[in-house]
Amino acid sequence: MNRVEFNKELERKIKSVESALKEYMAPRFPEKLFEAMGYSLFAGGKRLRPVLLLSACEAVGGDEKDGLSFAAALEMIHTYSLIHDDLPAMDDDDFRRGSPTNHKVYGEANAILAGDGLLTYAFETMLSSKGKSERILKAARIIAEFSGSKGMLVGQFVDCESEGKKIEPKLLNYIHSNKTAGLIKAALCAGAVMGGADEDITNGFLSIGEDLGIAFQIMDDILDVTSSTEVLGKPVLSDEKNEKATYVSLFGLEKSKTEYENYFENINKGIDKLEEKNVNVAFLREYINILKDRKK
Ligand code: IPE
Ligand code: IPE
Ligand code: MG
Ligand code: MG
Ligand code: MG
Repeated sequence: MNRVEFNKELERKIKSVESALKEYMAPRFPEKLFEAMGYSLFAGGKRLRPVLLLSACEAVGGDEKDGLSFAAALEMIHTYSLIHDDLPAMDDDDFRRGSPTNHKVYGEANAILAGDGLLTYAFETMLSSKGKSERILKAARIIAEFSGSKGMLVGQFVDCESEGKKIEPKLLNYIHSNKTAGLIKAALCAGAVMGGADEDITNGFLSIGEDLGIAFQIMDDILDVTSSTEVLGKPVLSDEKNEKATYVSLFGLEKSKTEYENYFENINKGIDKLEEKNVNVAFLREYINILKDRKK
């Protein structure tokens, strides 16, 4: 797959996700609630998780339509996590995706409810999707676990509990492996399941998701100290303000960058292994390696 073909395919995937989201988010009563949900959902995210989900689904032989409602639902859950993450009681940030945060526009109570709305609506969306019910139940369970008790929720909890503390590297790894790698593992594994992958292949995606998710958060920690609000669309130095335990605060910038490289070496080994098992990894490999050099 050359770069032109890749770009075309990426654009196509993102377009599919956008139009699925638009359809699911059609306005209804109470309009202000759905407006608040849509405000953050359509503010301009990279759509990383839906693209990963669709890529995994197609890599194992599934069709885009097998994964699309799950891709849209996962982006709803991710967006809810961002709305709540920015609340004054959590990271207290004023910008997200280049616009004022949800609570700045709609107030705290409505932002909390908009987040709750996106989370519950995501499960309504997944469980209303057409397809093989066995796969739907399995994928929905994966997303539930990695959003909650085995992922994002517990990671966010320990992240907040660790503010102002000097924590052990092992606990930092727990935070990253859950708060961020949770939804990335969910994307790859649920996509694989919806595409019909067996246990062994799904586990291959799980291991890539773990490394990619941790690496993604290491870069997020790096960008928080090296980038600008204009580029990121969210405040820089937010972690310092909140005395967060991050890769940079624990290990410094240079070691964080080295670790980042190491994780990508492992990710590529994981992709090789899937390729040996006849998974069509061409798009996924290209996407992940472009992501490595992300500036936002
Ligand atoms: C931000 O995620 C939160 C983290 C887990 C680091 P993204 O960097 O994917 O944010 P969007 O979706 O593009 O806004
Ligand atoms: C939070 O990590 C990741 C989530 C689960 C939302 P951060 O708090 O570092 O994410 P940003 O930097 O605000 O996007
Ligand atoms: Mg946070
Ligand atoms: Mg934050
Ligand atoms: Mg951050």
